[in-house]
This record gives sequence, C-alpha cells and structure tokens, in this order.
Amino acid sequence: MIKVLFVCLGNICRSPMAQFVLQQMVDKEGLTELFEIDSAGTHDHNEKDHVGIYYRTKDILTEMKVPFSEHYSKQIRKSDYQNFDYILTMDEGNIEDLKTLLGEDKSKKIYKLLDFTSNPRNIKDPWYTGNFDETYWDVVEGCQSFLKWLKDNKKI
Ligand code: 4NP
Repeated sequence: MIKVLFVCLGNICRSPMAQFVLQQMVDKEGLTELFEIDSAGTHDHNEKDHVGIYYRTKDILTEMKVPFSEHYSKQIRKSDYQNFDYILTMDEGNIEDLKTLLGEDKSKKIYKLLDFTSNPRNIKDPWYTGNFDETYWDVVEGCQSFLKWLKDNKKI
C-alpha cells in the first residue's frame, strides 16, 4: 500500500484537486487497491469553519471529467507524518509551514509535486491567481510524473 497525502495551504483548491486527479489515474490503471490518497492543509481556519472543496475546483474537476466526492478541509497532523509514505506539497511556502508544524523531515517523505517533473516549480495558488486551468494542468503533469517515478523506482 502506497499512502499519499497532498498538502496545500487551504486544502480547498490545489490539494483536493490533486487527490482526485491522482485517484482517477490509479483507478484507470487498475491500481486502486495499491493506493490510499488523501489531502490536508497547513492552515487550520478552513477546518474550524468546516469548509468543503471550493466551487471553482469542483467546476474544473467536473469539466475535466474527474470524479470526486466531498472533502472537508483539515489541517495536517503530526500523526499524518507517520501514517503517510509521500507528503506531496504544492509550493515552497507549504514546505516551510510543514517544517514548523512537523519538524525536520527525518524520513524524507516531503516533496513538491512538481519536483517529479522535468521542470520543477511551484504550483501557484489559484485562490489568488484565479487561474484554475493552469492549476489543473500543473496537477496533471505532477501526478503523471509521480506515477512514472514510482514505476521507474520499482515502488509499484
Ligand atoms: P489552496 O488555496 O491552498 O490551494 O487550497 C487556498 C484556499 C483558501 C485560502 C488560501 C489558499 N484561504 O486563505 O482561505
């Protein structure tokens, strides 16, 4: 079992988008039983307010025919670090926040999703850019590259 936790700031745009995009990819490849995929945020305020996936994230997932279920924002917990194998973040700010929340990445589980691509970079926050198309294609590139990396490294 490969346990993947996507992490962004608010856990209502990028990380739930990545969660459902990767889920669709593994389902299409018949790898469903091999994976557990979830998402979390570094901030706690959306969890306190019980905020679900942002409507523009739902809109792009619907437009791109990516199945999704409801997901309520939750802040990453220290126990998540033990529980998950890969903690895939969206940007440098997420990495910095995780250092504060979790301490040192002793088991080397924390990556930026686009580090698996040939063009490592941040995934910009669509909450601020308003560009959910760009986010979607970045997420697709990252998830495809992550799956390829798992295969190339004989993890699956
Ligand atoms: P996300 O975007 O990190 O991609 O989920 C954000 C969503 C909400 C907020 C910040 C970022 N917010 O401040 O509420």
